[in-house]
Amino acid sequence: MEKAELIWLNGEFVPWDEAKVHVLSHGLHYGTGVFEGIRCYETERGPAIFRHADHLRRLAKSAEMYYMELPYSSEEIGAATRQLIARNGLRSCYIRPLAFRGYGEMGLYAQAAPIDVMIAVWPWGAYLGEEGKRRGIRAKVSSWRRISSASLIPQAKASGQYLNSILAKTESANAGYEEAILLDEGGSVCEGSGENVFVVRDGIISTPGHTASILDGISRKSVLQIAEDLGYQVVERDIARAELYLAEEVFLCGTAAELVPVREIDDHEIGEPGEITRHVQAKFEDALNGRAEEYLEWLDFLDAGSDETPAPAGEQSSSKVTS
Ligand SMILES: Cc1ncc(COP(=O)(O)O)c(C=O)c1O
Repeated sequence: MEKAELIWLNGEFVPWDEAKVHVLSHGLHYGTGVFEGIRCYETERGPAIFRHADHLRRLAKSAEMYYMELPYSSEEIGAATRQLIARNGLRSCYIRPLAFRGYGEMGLYAQAAPIDVMIAVWPWGAYLGEEGKRRGIRAKVSSWRRISSASLIPQAKASGQYLNSILAKTESANAGYEEAILLDEGGSVCEGSGENVFVVRDGIISTPGHTASILDGISRKSVLQIAEDLGYQVVERDIARAELYLAEEVFLCGTAAELVPVREIDDHEIGEPGEITRHVQAKFEDALNGRAEEYLEWLDFLDAGSDETPAPAGEQSSSKVTS
């Protein structure tokens, strides 16, 4: 990975190589952490963080669901993120806030262990590659099923849960595919290892609904809105595995990957990225990069205020001033 200069750790800006934790940190042993993946884009009006407030809200919710009391408010984490990007002199970057149980307590009941919080930012290109975004990727349905609400919290973005995604991703990469698609325990389509999934059949765009064992992706929400605004019929419903093969178009979306067409699944050809995928992808990229007036409210412009946190979505203004 490409280093930046500074990392924010527990309230301090520290040099990248000095951002260290104790080896007995609880989170290292048990995966007791919650995190976010966010992106900042260089736009004509300067760097802007995509749906910053939504990501901060999800981080706080993930922490709460795992009984972790964050020592910093969303406002403080948001302000630190904005400062960190500026102090690292970055115009566009990936943003990784992480809150984890630190050093001081072992065993499974570790409510007394401190919560450490870090934020790192660094330049990171498209997760599944620029070529993947253009031409589409090859995916494989994983033999690993997506974690269910019976044992974990699929809607939380928690560190330990990602062992499930890592097994799926590793299996698919070892078999020569670019991404894994996980089914739920009942065999319905859930999501990619790090992206939500959409299928297009008879011109209708479908994606698994809120009650599925999916991460309620912020890109997913944005894509649903964009597709509807473009006039497409959008449905949230259960999707059978075979529908991946029968679909006219399939695509994935997530913060790291952005919107990526899928051109082949389990060696069944879906084909070159289709018209609907292309249309939604182009608008989504316009929204990310500040080229879509109608979605400017999704962007938290850094130059508009040096250390303010965005208001919750809906109330967010693209022309904030520094207090
Ligand atoms: C398992 C999983 N599903 C879906 C997503 C997409 O979520 P978002 O669009 O909020 O990045 C991610 C990425 O964070 C993920 O890790």
